[in-house]
Amino acid sequence: MKVRAMTAIAALLAAPLAAVAGPDSDELVVNGEINMVTQTEAPAHLDGALSELYSGWRFRSDETQALQMDDFDNPAMVFVDQAQEAWDTADGTEGKSCASCHGDAADSMAGVRAVYPKWNEAAGEVRTLEAQVNDCRENRMGAKAWKYDGGDMASMTALISVQSRGLPVNVAIDGPAQATWEMGKEIYYTRYGQLELSCANCHEDNYGNMIRADHLSQGHINGFPTYRLKNAKLNTSHARFKGCVRDTRAETFNPGSPEFVALELYVASRGNGLSVEGPSVRN
Ligand code: HEC
Ligand code: HEC
Repeated sequence: MKVRAMTAIAALLAAPLAAVAGPDSDELVVNGEINMVTQTEAPAHLDGALSELYSGWRFRSDETQALQMDDFDNPAMVFVDQAQEAWDTADGTEGKSCASCHGDAADSMAGVRAVYPKWNEAAGEVRTLEAQVNDCRENRMGAKAWKYDGGDMASMTALISVQSRGLPVNVAIDGPAQATWEMGKEIYYTRYGQLELSCANCHEDNYGNMIRADHLSQGHINGFPTYRLKNAKLNTSHARFKGCVRDTRAETFNPGSPEFVALELYVASRGNGLSVEGPSVRN
């Protein structure tokens, strides 16, 4: 099995290992004032797997990087503005907006992105930001749930992420969240599809290498939601997971499924210590 995965990887890698570089050494300062940590020591739970963490930003071209360095250039900011409007607009049978209960997003949502997915005691489950937003919509506003990886949801999570930019990702992996985290870890190391590749085969064993025309990163989600130049819209982390699983020619899990929620918690925890960058810009 191991041999087949190595062969699949070798076939996908565009250049021999020696010929390719790792992350670049550029520094990310947004709007000339938010200093982002794009490189830091890996958390203890990654002992033996990774020693240093790098944000995906460090693997992008200078042109793509520049788009994330100033909000006037960041194409995702249009969606943040749209979400601010949605935040202030009443919806559903209760006649309430997000603002009716949460006030100003800049105050009430500061720090929130950095700790999600997070255990919710009352619900007895690990909740993603998307699940929490839909819980508020359905159970507190009497409004329809948004599509899990749709545009309204991605925009709202972008608005919420902006309030945490520059703060370190800090998801809890112990206590009641541990079982979900373990499940996510197992998925991360499972080889899927005809290519028999796991997330780790690409993002842990081969980051820094070129795969087809793409510079492989460590696959962190500190920059989500992400504006992709490829599809010119905001993308959720679950949509990205789906694309990566499909690339191994496997059946994929659905956005919002228990498997992807667990995977999100695990992948988020691999980035503990990197700055929240969302909404980021990628190719
Ligand atoms: C009727 C009041 C009400 C409305 C309206 C409401 N929420 Fe909430 N929201 C709450 C309460 C109460 C909690 C805490 C719930 C919990 O911990 O289970 C919460 C929690 C949250 C959290 C998690 C915060 C944290 O610190 O973990 C987010 C994010 C959130 N709401 C987003 C939204 C968004 C976005 C909207 C509009 C689409 C919205 N809420 C509308 C009452 C509301
Ligand atoms: C065949 C190799 C391959 C496999 C297997 C793979 N990915 Fe990816 N992934 C990529 C490539 C290529 C990109 C785009 C370049 C980059 O950001 O690394 C990418 C991007 C990502 C990103 C976006 C990173 C950012 O900073 O925007 C995330 C998150 C991600 N992958 C997670 C996963 C997860 C989780 C799995 C396992 C379910 C997985 N990937 C499996 C190749 C792979």
